[in-house]
Amino acid sequence: MNHPEIILFIARADNGVIGDGDTIPWRLPEDQRRFKRMTMGKPMIMGRKTFDSLPGMLPGRRHIVLTRDKDWEGDGADVASSVENALKMANAPHIVVIGGAEIYNAFLDKADRIELTEVHSNPKGDIKMPAFDETVWEEITREDHEAVNGKPGYSFVTLKRKIG
Ligand SMILES: NC(=O)c1ccc[n+]([C@@H]2O[C@H](COP(=O)([O-])OP(=O)(O)OC[C@H]3O[C@@H](n4cnc5c(N)ncnc54)[C@H](OP(=O)(O)O)[C@@H]3O)[C@@H](O)[C@H]2O)c1
Repeated sequence: MNHPEIILFIARADNGVIGDGDTIPWRLPEDQRRFKRMTMGKPMIMGRKTFDSLPGMLPGRRHIVLTRDKDWEGDGADVASSVENALKMANAPHIVVIGGAEIYNAFLDKADRIELTEVHSNPKGDIKMPAFDETVWEEITREDHEAVNGKPGYSFVTLKRKIG
């Protein structure tokens, strides 16, 4: 098989926050619909903490959960003990990585594409990601959405790894 495409799906606020404790400090239904549409049918790799924070299994997608705990089991989840092990298990042409921060950091060097939702607010939160290095990542598309009904504005941005 050719090298699989590894895609990170990340929603990040302007101040770098991606999470607060075990939750995401915003709710953007359009982002959730886009996430569902773009990840449907693809294996999803995630950290154990992110899996624990899900309201339940996300339909139509394999859940591959990274943990160092040999005894851990999650209903309906496939358990992986390392990055390499998770990728081998996923064994698909497109593999999505859905967080959280520890897992994004573990896969960043291997990722081909980042589907980034920039959330234009500065929420409180203890889980952060730095901005993406412009010498490594090239912005391919950007779709801006204005703030409405008390929800922050946001932008859907596709970043692709620069060649060479
Ligand atoms: N905004 C977004 O797009 C987004 C997306 C997803 C999550 N989040 C947020 O991110 C936060 C969670 O992120 P987090 O960084 O705290 O946790 P996480 O990345 O979801 O999970 C961390 C856990 O993954 C396991 N792990 C990490 N690296 C590993 C490796 N190399 N090999 C094997 N297992 C490994 C460990 O599990 P064990 O402790 O079991 O060993 C570790 O405790 C939450 O606030 C969540 O809401 C935000």
